[in-house]
Amino acid sequence: MTPEQPHEQGIHVILVDDQMIVGEAVRRMLSGDEDITLEPIMDPTEALDRIRTRQPNVLLVDLVMPGIDGLELTRRLQSDESTRDIPIIILSSESDVHRKVDAFENGASDFLVKMPDRLELVARLRALAAKAIAEKQLRLMATRLQKQAVALDEANRSLQAMNVSLESDVSEQRGRLRSIAMLGNELARIQDIDILMERLLTEARRILVADAGASYLVDADRLRITHAQNGTFDGTDFSESFRRSAVEIGIDHKSIVGWVAETGEVANIRDAYELDGNTPYAFNDTFDKENGYRTKSILAAPLIGATGQVMGVLQLINPCHPDGTSRDQFDADDETAIRHFASMASVSMQNAQLTRSMILRMIRMAELRDPSETGAHANRVAEYALVIFGEWAQRHGLSMEERELQRDKLRIAAMLHDVGKVAVPDMILKKPGKLDDEEFATMQGHTMVDEALFDELLSGYDEAAAEVVRGHHERWDGSGYPGRETLVRDDNGYLVFPTTPIRNGREGDEIPLFARIVAIADVFDALGSQRSYKEAWDDERILALLREESGSHFDPELVDIFIGGIEEIKAIRAKWSPNRSSED
Ligand code: C2E
Ligand code: SIN
Ligand code: SIN
Ligand code: SIN
Ligand code: FE
Ligand code: FE
Repeated sequence: MTPEQPHEQGIHVILVDDQMIVGEAVRRMLSGDEDITLEPIMDPTEALDRIRTRQPNVLLVDLVMPGIDGLELTRRLQSDESTRDIPIIILSSESDVHRKVDAFENGASDFLVKMPDRLELVARLRALAAKAIAEKQLRLMATRLQKQAVALDEANRSLQAMNVSLESDVSEQRGRLRSIAMLGNELARIQDIDILMERLLTEARRILVADAGASYLVDADRLRITHAQNGTFDGTDFSESFRRSAVEIGIDHKSIVGWVAETGEVANIRDAYELDGNTPYAFNDTFDKENGYRTKSILAAPLIGATGQVMGVLQLINPCHPDGTSRDQFDADDETAIRHFASMASVSMQNAQLTRSMILRMIRMAELRDPSETGAHANRVAEYALVIFGEWAQRHGLSMEERELQRDKLRIAAMLHDVGKVAVPDMILKKPGKLDDEEFATMQGHTMVDEALFDELLSGYDEAAAEVVRGHHERWDGSGYPGRETLVRDDNGYLVFPTTPIRNGREGDEIPLFARIVAIADVFDALGSQRSYKEAWDDERILALLREESGSHFDPELVDIFIGGIEEIKAIRAKWSPNRSSED
């Protein structure tokens, strides 16, 4: 991504140093990085309060200062709940280097000798800021999940890898490493693993300039392809074709990516069709044959987690020059860059995997209660919702950055739309026949548990999830539910459900966009599925209902979009319902 990120995504740095000249020098070094803002503090006794209120992303602290020295300040920041998590870089002069151990023992995250190289300073600031964001997310979830023990050494490893890499003196390579370092911060914010994998592939192809590529996740004892991109057939998403031709990739030497996952090594191949027989792996040419493509050079790197386990593989195919003409092969600099990229990527992946496991857990909880609310239903509704949103965003001219951020939130929110059903009694939830009014009123309560479920659970994501839980049964004409009704608790703390159905909700664009989108996706999927109280409808009948209720139940623009994308919708349904008989 470009350095011109919105301010709220920038990195705020506080420098505590009693010498004005240091502040000036650091400011100059950071002046080219518009997303990094520097706030110098010269009096260390003022620093504690300022840091508490300003909550910077990273601190630069001078070692030797009058009054409170850098070690003392670090100790105090570390013992204060509100500042403990802000990473600290100690700045020292050459003669203080022997105090490095003291600094780390007092809780500093890093140690730099004044004045550091500009590039190194920026890289370390970025890496520490990214790590702090990832850690904050992780902590939030880890508390909630009790004991997901996820180590974060990974971030430190990537920092070390970067320090080594920065010694490279080719300036083009420095530029690439720098843009990789800058990505870390942004990637740490992507919560959805699928969206993250797509983004990782896109960025790796962009930075290393590769015509094609694919991303894989380790799924039990196999590799599952998540995305495939190919510049030669621009605009075509090959993920589906790849899923078909390479569904079963074992973690073994039968394929290149399998070998990479098995060994944790990088594979750099000049020509996949001229493996000399000494290589431990073979090349699988199914994709080339099916699509008339010529895979030549391949660079494949493992994505390795904190405890050393391989989480996935990134594979780049056919390197190009920046002008698009092809290059003979990936070189040693490319290998360094992909290693570095993979190491950055894995910090964000662990974060996203944790979110995913938490969401799947919530969905399984709902599934235990109501077997019609399966993970497959949640995934289908989420993917239909993304199709609708993609076209809506196109029509409304959203920037790529905005689209990406919103897609991530929507997918998570859509997957959780019906988790509120965990609060509905079995007798009603599993009733084989039609619900009476009072039972339906209770059922409506599943849209009113947003506050009970989502406080800070998903940090930035709870808002979108709460909107969708609360709004997915609203109707465009205002006849839906639950409007602004909320559940109260009785004296024992139990939620009190409504006893008469609510029929006046919010209307039109009072209903949040994500809720309007999920309403269509959910009804389409509910009607096409068998429920304890109804049979599955055929597609013709479903589409007739969507058209008929366009403008009354559903946002008419979104119905148009949905029907326009119906082929894609059906392909998604087929992917998530392998046993379903075809209706076309
Ligand atoms: P659900 O089964 O996931 O259905 C979601 C939404 O799809 C429904 O929201 C409704 O808008 C639409 N839908 C589902 N089945 C039909 C149908 O046969 N005809 C029509 N015209 N629309 C349908 P709604 O009505 O607000 O219901 C919310 C949830 O309440 C349903 O989720 C389901 O879990 C439960 N529910 C609704 N009616 C009954 C019922 O008669 N018996 C039982 N056991 N549960 C019901
Ligand atoms: C997953 O990552 O397990 C689901 C893949 C998908 O939703 O496409
Ligand atoms: C392989 O790495 O051999 C399988 C993936 C591909 O078709 O490129
Ligand atoms: C589930 O785990 O309940 C299904 C979700 C999936 O298919 O990945
Ligand atoms: Fe619902
Ligand atoms: Fe649903």
